[in-house]
Amino acid sequence: MMKLAPSILSADFSKLGEQVTMIENGGAHLIHIDVMDGHFVPNISFGATVMKSLLGKTKIPFDVHLMIENPEFFIKEFVTENTEYITVHQEACIHLHRTIQEIKALGIKAGVSINPATSLSTLDYILEEVDLVLIMSVNPGFGGQNFIPSALEKVKALKEIREYNNLKFEIEIDGGVTLENLKEVVAAGVDIVVAGSAVFGAENVEERTKAFVNLT
Ligand code: DX5
Ligand code: ZN
Repeated sequence: MMKLAPSILSADFSKLGEQVTMIENGGAHLIHIDVMDGHFVPNISFGATVMKSLLGKTKIPFDVHLMIENPEFFIKEFVTENTEYITVHQEACIHLHRTIQEIKALGIKAGVSINPATSLSTLDYILEEVDLVLIMSVNPGFGGQNFIPSALEKVKALKEIREYNNLKFEIEIDGGVTLENLKEVVAAGVDIVVAGSAVFGAENVEERTKAFVNLT
């Protein structure tokens, strides 16, 4: 079964708690937490304080996506009772293997992400260590961008690599997913779909979440 992870980057922050209740009622499986530092990506979003404001307000596990330089300095801040995954970017980690081990040592599932122009081969020596691979289908930094089709080729190739090597990591896709392209994305074989503007941009966020969940 595929999981839906709405990204709160596109939520109305003035009523974040209510917005999260809507996706919870709609059946969302994860809350995607987009953390941006203005260095790794050309935008600043929010940090652990905003994420932690949701603790006790929702049962949905957190899927943390760190689009920041030196993520190893900040991993601990994102460890909470709701945190299921912490994902770092291959491009941001000089010592990727060490950073992945540090996340796992904290009892959290460790993910690695690659940008649209980064080859899957950069992950050759880390795939057997990770719990999740996040394929970016937009250039990270902003919600509401168009889906980059080559991401689906990456997903398909990654699935084959996983099968051939008998590995267990999950595959996540992030950026530009809409109700229109969701079927194709699901067919490519992703395990987790992130959707930001397509969920929180809807007039009725709960109904839109349900529509996504029903198609996954
Ligand atoms: C992009 C973020 C995405 C983004 C997705 O930098 O990592 O998670 O919020 O938003 P949409 O679904 O609007 O492309
Ligand atoms: Zn993201």
